[in-house]
Amino acid sequence: MPSIAQAIKQASHSLAETSDSARLDAEVILCHVLNCSTTHLLAWPEKILDAEQALLFNQLIEQRRAGTPVAYLTNSKEFWSLNLKVTPATLIPRPDTETLVEFVLNKFSAKKNLNLIDLGTGSGAIAIAIASERPNWKIVATDISAEALAIAKENALSHQITNIQFIESNWFKQIEEQRFDLIVSNPPYIAEHDPHLSQGDVRFEPLSALAAGKTGMNDINQITAESKKHLNTNGWLVFEHGYNQKKWVYNCFNHYVFQDITQLSDLSGQARITAGCRGEYA
Ligand SMILES: C[S@@+](CC[C@H](N)C(=O)[O-])C[C@H]1O[C@@H](n2cnc3c(N)ncnc32)[C@H](O)[C@@H]1O
Repeated sequence: MPSIAQAIKQASHSLAETSDSARLDAEVILCHVLNCSTTHLLAWPEKILDAEQALLFNQLIEQRRAGTPVAYLTNSKEFWSLNLKVTPATLIPRPDTETLVEFVLNKFSAKKNLNLIDLGTGSGAIAIAIASERPNWKIVATDISAEALAIAKENALSHQITNIQFIESNWFKQIEEQRFDLIVSNPPYIAEHDPHLSQGDVRFEPLSALAAGKTGMNDINQITAESKKHLNTNGWLVFEHGYNQKKWVYNCFNHYVFQDITQLSDLSGQARITAGCRGEYA
């Protein structure tokens, strides 16, 4: 059986062809198999894996070689310093989405009792991150996927979050009568024929979480159109969207007469967040 150091070396070599982060992938997968931290790997490089550990590690490395995202192999992803469970039923939360969370927390920091809805919550990343920082807010999180919603609920439970209500719904369908101070969403926004959909980790994520019609704008258009009747006076709508959709989303908000339209860039400087206020007379 290999030692920790040997297993990492062999796996890094085997992943080098298909992954840009071969060594890191190998380390993260080995930590998952041994249920330990990376510090443990560094501290005990000579420790020998038992047969069961070696077998599982090799199987997972083979799946990684075939392209399966590390997060689906370990069933976990860090978001807003929270460890979230992810499965192939959920999108893998991206660091860029933390920009949306940050915007909401900064803009509405003084408010004590807002009610917010996260449309298309997936693993629950946005709703749970906000709930962890604003335990007094009343939060609703929805998804059309019952499987994703079950994972989001598990994540809320494991982080002792008690201020989120989870509802299975096709956008606003199951919440016809409700109004909110804040509507946030990272909806599907990739154009259906975008070549990125057949590349890298994205290939393994649910298409229903990613693609939204010819230009990727179908869901953003629909949610924006329907949002006004679900927003309280001076309520806000906040989207994450594609780097190439800045103008379209701005025009869409303008069309539905949102005010104070604000656009923000993600961690790599691309405009990816659009927010707007319903105003008083919508
Ligand atoms: C891009 S993912 C975002 C997931 C999560 N909010 C995040 O940021 O990691 C979009 C989510 O919208 C959900 N979705 C797609 N169409 C929907 C619809 N018509 N109604 C509700 N949710 C939908 C998908 O199941 C998916 O979980």
